[in-house]
Amino acid sequence: MKGYFITFEGVEGAGKSTQAKLLYQYLIDNGKDVVLTKEPGGTKTGQKIRQILLEKTDEIFPPVAELMLYEADRNFHIHNLIKPSLQQGKYIICDRFTDSTLAYQGYARGLDINLIKQLNEIATEGIKPDITFLIDIPVEEGLKRIRQTRQADRIEDEDIQFHKRLREGFLKIAENEKDRIVVLDGMESPENIFAKIIEILKNRNII
Ligand code: TMP
Repeated sequence: MKGYFITFEGVEGAGKSTQAKLLYQYLIDNGKDVVLTKEPGGTKTGQKIRQILLEKTDEIFPPVAELMLYEADRNFHIHNLIKPSLQQGKYIICDRFTDSTLAYQGYARGLDINLIKQLNEIATEGIKPDITFLIDIPVEEGLKRIRQTRQADRIEDEDIQFHKRLREGFLKIAENEKDRIVVLDGMESPENIFAKIIEILKNRNII
């Protein structure tokens, strides 16, 4: 038995977590066995790694250390939750996954894209999402949404150029993997975006 692995990606404040939660509730209401999870922080140890990654610190936070912590979190996640749940035939909805590492640590931070692809492959043991929804919005809009609701964390606090490289990076990744990644306009209403997600999942016989 094999489950389905659905991921959500996007810049800060794009609305991906809202969509992930809506989909979780929809699948539960339709009697499916579903796990809603996220990266970083989808496991107990991952929660600790998440704290290290997102807390502001007065120490230098080297990009390579950052990359490896995201990959370590992912490997815990694969072993403790994603792989076993897929083997049990469950739906897994994951808020951020490997594309975030390519976009943040690769395109935005400037680390080597091929190195990140290799580390993603090692950390995931080759497990790939069946489908990925990239919710795309202008970065100014996303950051505005975040700053209205809470204090920015270490990564959100990066300058506007970082966030612009990030958005472009996500769009490039989607361009290179058109079959897997579906780009949705995050400026549309949450209801419209969600309706599209359901339609696409039905068309692909995922739900
Ligand atoms: P969240 O705010 O969506 O929960 O994600 C936590 C932060 O971590 C967000 O700023 C994106 C960032 N991130 C990376 O930089 N690389 C990664 O591989 C992942 C999964 C997240």
